[in-house]
Amino acid sequence: MQIFRDVDTIKTYLQEHRQNGNKIGFVPTMGTLHQGHLSLIQESTNDCDVTVCSVYVNPTQFNNAKDLETYPRQESEDLEKLKAAGCDAVFLPSNEVIYPNGMNTDHLLKFDFGILERQLEGEKRPGHFNGVGIVVSKLFHIVQPDNAYFGQKDLQQYLIVRKMVQDLSFGIKVKGCPTIREADGLAMSSRNLRLSEADRKVAPLLYQVISKVKDDIQAGVSVKEALENGEASLGADSAFTLEYLAVRETSRLLPIEKVEQGSDFAVLVAAHLGGVRLIDNILVEHN
Ligand code: PAJ
Repeated sequence: MQIFRDVDTIKTYLQEHRQNGNKIGFVPTMGTLHQGHLSLIQESTNDCDVTVCSVYVNPTQFNNAKDLETYPRQESEDLEKLKAAGCDAVFLPSNEVIYPNGMNTDHLLKFDFGILERQLEGEKRPGHFNGVGIVVSKLFHIVQPDNAYFGQKDLQQYLIVRKMVQDLSFGIKVKGCPTIREADGLAMSSRNLRLSEADRKVAPLLYQVISKVKDDIQAGVSVKEALENGEASLGADSAFTLEYLAVRETSRLLPIEKVEQGSDFAVLVAAHLGGVRLIDNILVEHN
């Protein structure tokens, strides 16, 4: 597995692969890798000749300085995991490599993803998706992959990246991959490491609540009632502070009051647990 820390060397390496007709798959991450990230690597190695993973904690997408400071970092473990997973190349840029002109948000390009970013995560984390849009487009220009792999765990991010790639004609196939969970249902996340032992025990309630909302809706309960029941279950456990619990359609995540039998929908949740912000969702799709 090759490790690159600057733009020119990884570009030269990938140029050669492109000239040889090799298909390039790309998995952008912020490291502290778990099975969720590795499932994306696996998808890429299945589809592509060369798999590139980037590990970069992108400061411009953190709207909270403490969250950035405490975001876990474990470079050597990540490299071991990537090697074992069959990743071919890792890009580990510094802030200077990604932002040679500095990270002052007043000077950064501004994306506007429309309604997709003015709700849910975008509303609760102002500037977050602008930072994601900037770093993902920079990484896409550096790697120029054929395919890029994103987790449905971050459903809104996946939809935003897909929109950006379509609207700006990046010519990259963006694949959304299922959420990987711990045995007790908790969605895998690098932030789970920051949960106390007691909070880790109650954390699976988030998934139980969104599963119940989904089941209720599929059993014909109204969206309003299903959400009220879900909010009451989370509210009953004082460890959680709920940010949102929502049922949405699946293209732009617009609110829906009624789910027609057999139509697609998503149940999304964000909550704080002992100072850690957790998100999760369930996507119901009928292809
Ligand atoms: P990060 O949180 O490290 O996630 C990297 C990728 O792994 C994302 O596509 C995310 O959706 C996916 N992922 C995380 N947990 C998952 C799980 N339990 N199951 C399946 N996939 C999972 O998302 C980011 O980094 C950043 O915003 C990034 C796109 C790298 C831009 O900085």
